Amino acid sequence: PLTHHRDQLDVKTGQTPLRSQTLSTRKDLYERDFPLYRQPVEVGCFSLDSQRRFFNDGRQMRYYVEPDKNPNFDLKDGYKDRYVRRDENVKEKLDHILRWILANKETLKSKGTADSPRALDVDFVTWRGHLTKLLTTPYETKEGWLLAATKFNGTVYISEVETEAARIEREKRPERNKEMMYWGYKFEQYTCADNADSLPDPSGVVNTNEAFCTVVQTRLADHKLLFSGEVDCRDKDPNAPPPPACYVELKTSPEICTPKQRSNFHRFKLLKWWAQSFLPGVPRIVAGFKDHDGVVVSTETFLVSKVSQLIKNEYNCWRPTVCMNFCCDFLSFVKAIVTENDHSLVYLFSWEPYKDVTYSVHRDSQYSFLPRWFIDGMSG
Ligand code: A3P
Ligand code: MG
Ligand code: MG
Repeated sequence: PLTHHRDQLDVKTGQTPLRSQTLSTRKDLYERDFPLYRQPVEVGCFSLDSQRRFFNDGRQMRYYVEPDKNPNFDLKDGYKDRYVRRDENVKEKLDHILRWILANKETLKSKGTADSPRALDVDFVTWRGHLTKLLTTPYETKEGWLLAATKFNGTVYISEVETEAARIEREKRPERNKEMMYWGYKFEQYTCADNADSLPDPSGVVNTNEAFCTVVQTRLADHKLLFSGEVDCRDKDPNAPPPPACYVELKTSPEICTPKQRSNFHRFKLLKWWAQSFLPGVPRIVAGFKDHDGVVVSTETFLVSKVSQLIKNEYNCWRPTVCMNFCCDFLSFVKAIVTENDHSLVYLFSWEPYKDVTYSVHRDSQYSFLPRWFIDGMSG
C-alpha cells in the first residue's frame, strides 16, 4: 500500500534499514481520484479563556455579525493599548485536546478487546492546524515542518515541534509583522458578538489567549481521525444547521487591485484558506480586504465547496485531490513506521521543501509530549 516511499540503500552496508524509508512530496505522485473524506462530525468542543484556562464547554463561542456594504474597520486601533498577546514561548503541544479527551473518555472509549482494553476508536489524534500543514505540503516552497508521533493505546498522537528556522523567524520578527498579526484578530472583533442577539464591541480588548475549539471525528480513506481546531464564530441564526455547518472562518487579505494580485490570491491564499476550513467541515469563509493602512474596505464570502471552481482558470494551480492524497499517504507512512506502543517513544517526522519526508526515533527525549496526567488518567 505504501507506493511512494523508497528504501534508500545504505552505502556502507548495502542494507535497507527501516529508518531510511522516506516519503516523496512530489505533486504528480498524488494526482489521482479524490480519496474518501467522510463528512466531519463534531463530537464536542472546548474553550480557552483570557488566561488560557481550559473549559470543557463552548463559553468562548462568538456570533458572526454581517458588516456594512462599505466597512471602514481600522485594524490598527488598539494595538498599543488594548491588546493582550498569547505567550508564544509556551508550547502547549496537544495538552488542550488531551484534557478534552480525558474529560470525555467514557463517551469516547470503545467497548475494548483483549489486546486493546477500552482504547479510543481512532487511529490519529492531532490539531487541525497540523493537518493543514500536511495538506499544503506538496505546494509549500518556504517552510518545512517537524511532526512528533507517539503511539499510545493503539492511537497515534501527532504533535508539531517548532523548527529551528521557525524559532529564529519568530524571535527576530519585525515590529511591522507583529502588528499585522494583530490585524486578523482585530477584524474578528469588528465582526463577532459574544451573544446571538448582541453587537460587536470594537472598543474592547483583543486577547489572543481566548479561543473556542471544535473537536471533530472523521475518516480519510482508512484513517480514523479525531482532531480539534479553533473556530472563529458561528452563524447567529438559531435555525442555522448544526455544527460544523454553522461555523464561519474569518480572514483578512490585502485588497485585490490587479489581475496579478487576483491570481496570487487564488494560487497561494485560497490554498491555505481552503485546507484549513475543508478539514473540519467549515463551509464559509468571510474575507475582509484591507488597504495598505490596515483598514478593511470590503468583505466577501467564499464558500469552501466553490473554491475549486474559482481556481480552475489559474494556470498550473494547486489541486485539492493532491492535498488530500498526500495527507492520506503520509498517514499510511506514519502507520507503517509508528508500530511500537510506548508513550515515551517519539518518531520525529521531518520535512524541508524540495526534499522527501524522513524520520528519526527518540526514546525518553525532549520530544516526548504525552504528559503523565494523560497516561495515568487514560489508564484509570
Ligand atoms: P488573518 O490571517 O485572517 O489575517 P485564523 O485566521 O487562523 O483564525 O487566525 C487569526 C489571525 O491570527 C490571523 O488573521 C493572523 O492575524 C494571525 N495569524 C494566525 N496564524 C498566523 C501566522 N502563521 N502568521 C502570522 N499571523 C498569523
Ligand atoms: Mg481563528
Ligand atoms: Mg480566522
